[in-house]
Amino acid sequence: MKSSVSTVLRASLLTASTLFALAPSAQGASYSLSDNVVGAGFFDAFNFQAIGDPTHGRVNYVDQATARAQNLTFGSGNTFILRADHTTTLSPGGPGRNSVRIRTNKAYTTHVAVFDIRHMPQACGTWPAVWETKESNWPNGGEIDILEGVNDHGPNQATLHTSSGCTMPASRAQSGNALQNDCNVAVNGNAGCGVQVPSGNSYGPAFNANGGGWYAVERTNSFIKVWFWARNDGSVPSAVRSGASSVNTDSWGTPVAFFPNTQCDLASHFQENNIIINLTFCGDWAGAVFASQGCPGTCEDFVNNPANFANAFFDFAAMRVYT
Ligand SMILES: *[C@@H]1O[C@H](CO)[C@@H](O)[C@H](O)[C@H]1NC(C)=O
Ligand SMILES: *[C@@H]1O[C@H](CO)[C@@H](O)[C@H](O)[C@H]1NC(C)=O
Repeated sequence: MKSSVSTVLRASLLTASTLFALAPSAQGASYSLSDNVVGAGFFDAFNFQAIGDPTHGRVNYVDQATARAQNLTFGSGNTFILRADHTTTLSPGGPGRNSVRIRTNKAYTTHVAVFDIRHMPQACGTWPAVWETKESNWPNGGEIDILEGVNDHGPNQATLHTSSGCTMPASRAQSGNALQNDCNVAVNGNAGCGVQVPSGNSYGPAFNANGGGWYAVERTNSFIKVWFWARNDGSVPSAVRSGASSVNTDSWGTPVAFFPNTQCDLASHFQENNIIINLTFCGDWAGAVFASQGCPGTCEDFVNNPANFANAFFDFAAMRVYT
């Protein structure tokens, strides 16, 4: 990461006034494209995780060979599809629905990631997520949930989950609505410090009807920010829209979620994180609120019927990581 302010200029600002010493912590910087992941490139950047769902979902994560053979993943041109099986009727009490969980081979500390998403999984019972963590050292390595929700229920919420000693100030420079301010996984039933995105078209059916949009995350040791621009949002930065070879987050405007380091030492609460994309069903969250969010019958019965999952797919135009 390069500083947005030259060392010389910053030094003179610092001597001019201590007030300026606070300014750089909220500022972004310019970054260069490190991983341009498009179409079939997703197969090289990610590994497939055929693991048991730690959140007890009615899912059967398959390996890459199975995903490709069943066309649950498809990469061509500027399209990468990741979907649930939508042809198999499941037996009650038997294995869950085939789906896919992928994790980047690379891990990142300070970085910007931009996700250009045309469509996200849509159906009652779905629990899709685009997030970052260090699975071998959770929660000490930190977790950033960028896009996550259940049962088609928007808006999106961006959340940090950490070890103890990481809280967020109640008032901060973001357009979203803070839910809880303690990021510690051991409090509030691991709700984390979530921020609800203000726009209804940030998640689920409304996101899809609008052609999706762009999610972006910037992680520095001073702050973590998340932005969302809907497909038709005129304020999307041109470098984000075009997938430019460099980006400068100074010009990106107020983020939907702003997590500063003022009451949380981000450098010690976050380690190298992988980016994970997963799609599970029911389980600890989607299953628990299935009926209260207006979905019919039981989540298990619903998941058994393949016809319900024709739209349970991600369509990524690109994932770009800048460092
Ligand atoms: C899917 O993503 C969410 C993201 O927060 C995570 O809590 C959950 O454990 C993930 N499920 C699986 C099976 O990886
Ligand atoms: C696999 O899925 C893609 C994307 O939906 C589709 O274009 C393609 O025709 C499918 N291939 C087969 C063999 O069904």
